[in-house]
Amino acid sequence: MTANSDILNQIAALPGDWHGAGCLSGDVIKAIKSYSDQKPFEASLETGVGKSTLILSHCSKKHYAFAADFGGSVTRTRNSELLNAGSVIFIEGLCQKTIPAHDFPEKLDFALIDGGHGYPFPELDYYFIYPHLRPGAILAVDDIHIPTIHNMFAVLREDEMFDLDRIVGTTAFFRRTNAETFDPLGDGWWLQGYNQKYYPAPIIDETGKMVQYTSPGNKIPL
Ligand SMILES: C[S@@+](CC[C@H](N)C(=O)[O-])C[C@H]1O[C@@H](n2cnc3c(N)ncnc32)[C@H](O)[C@@H]1O
Repeated sequence: MTANSDILNQIAALPGDWHGAGCLSGDVIKAIKSYSDQKPFEASLETGVGKSTLILSHCSKKHYAFAADFGGSVTRTRNSELLNAGSVIFIEGLCQKTIPAHDFPEKLDFALIDGGHGYPFPELDYYFIYPHLRPGAILAVDDIHIPTIHNMFAVLREDEMFDLDRIVGTTAFFRRTNAETFDPLGDGWWLQGYNQKYYPAPIIDETGKMVQYTSPGNKIPL
């Protein structure tokens, strides 16, 4: 299942203010479709809705769309003639509540994190989504220019579960590797690539000076 080029072009050409919560660019919409052209999605999921929902409704047999109706984004999407309504399940409400309550009945081929952007909401979305991505799946993270989201992007870049595939504008596309799923109910920060690469992190101490702890209680100025 995939969108024909006419539908793709119509969705990609929708204006940036098509709804009032901030839309993806046409280039990102085209990038999403290009992944389903490689391998059509059996199941996909996104946080936040809009133009992405329209294209994913044509690219996925079953698409879960989680969002609150900020900026009329859900209303606009539900009422669009470009929506392939039969393949979309809308879960309307705040993702902070709806995502943790979701059962995730199947593995995902594609997921987009583009709902609430305040810290730590994208990370909360990530926490509940990542165990359900199948090897080869695409994880898209939008707005990696927002510093807190950039932190998550930087961590994922070093994670063995993901290879950075491409960046389109401010949207990153990662591909899930075959690495074992990091236990969402365990610990293991010392095993994670970002921590292995950057430990110990420099700290701005209580006097405003940059220091590094070589062991607890033993700090050196930088
Ligand atoms: C940037 S827009 C998504 C744009 C969309 N991907 C597109 O292509 O047009 C953000 C979306 O997240 C929703 N949203 C923001 N905060 C949310 C929250 N805490 N829970 C659920 N949805 C939220 C907004 O209502 C909107 O649908």
